[in-house]
Amino acid sequence: MARAALLVSSILLSCLVATSYGATFSSLMRTLVVTASPAAGQVVKSGEDKITVSWSYNNTFARGTDSTYKTIKVKLCYAPISQVDRAWRKTVDDLSKDKTCQFNIVTKPYNPSNNNTFTWTVERDTPTATYFVRAYAYNSAEEEVGFGQTTDSHKTTNLFEVHAISGRHTSLDIASICFSAFSVVSLFGFFFIEKRKAKASQQK
Ligand SMILES: *[C@@H]1O[C@H](CO)[C@@H](O)[C@H](O)[C@H]1NC(C)=O
Ligand SMILES: *[C@@H]1O[C@H](CO)[C@@H](O)[C@H](O)[C@H]1NC(C)=O
Repeated sequence: MARAALLVSSILLSCLVATSYGATFSSLMRTLVVTASPAAGQVVKSGEDKITVSWSYNNTFARGTDSTYKTIKVKLCYAPISQVDRAWRKTVDDLSKDKTCQFNIVTKPYNPSNNNTFTWTVERDTPTATYFVRAYAYNSAEEEVGFGQTTDSHKTTNLFEVHAISGRHTSLDIASICFSAFSVVSLFGFFFIEKRKAKASQQK
């Protein structure tokens, strides 16, 4: 009898754990209005350029819809075009497994009444790709409870590009090293040919 009760309660408990574990993106309402400074198609350079993001509560939603919102995290997210064939950037509905938004821009306490803005210098290690900006609202248990983003639901409009400037530097460096090596080799080659020519003309 006691054993059966234990079994039932452990089943109940595991159901509870299963249902309360992990928010899904599809369950979230788009209650936040999010904008970012880059124009559609604009190229921003990592480590140099700045992005200004703004967010606020969309007042079309009923008052109190945001009553559980405690913090806002604004993130830089991969657009579908930069996720193709890259499992490590994959979009998964279970937000604990989702890899769409890997770069934190800012975390702030939730504030519905103001225009919240933040200016972020695109971090140096941000890979070259196409992005959009998304903000998640979290409750006090740190679960996602709402969101907003700079693109449409299909993630096709208003996308911008980040170009990794540090990456370009290293490839430039490699190119110049190769070029110098090539010039040294060709210089030696030139001397060698000249020497042979000189020898040949002496032998005549
Ligand atoms: C606010 O939400 C409504 C309903 O979802 C939507 O139609 C509207 O475009 C949103 N406003 C902004 C500024 O995003
Ligand atoms: C917030 O932003 C809106 C739209 O950009 C603007 O009309 C409004 O004046 C701003 N409010 C404050 C308090 O800055």
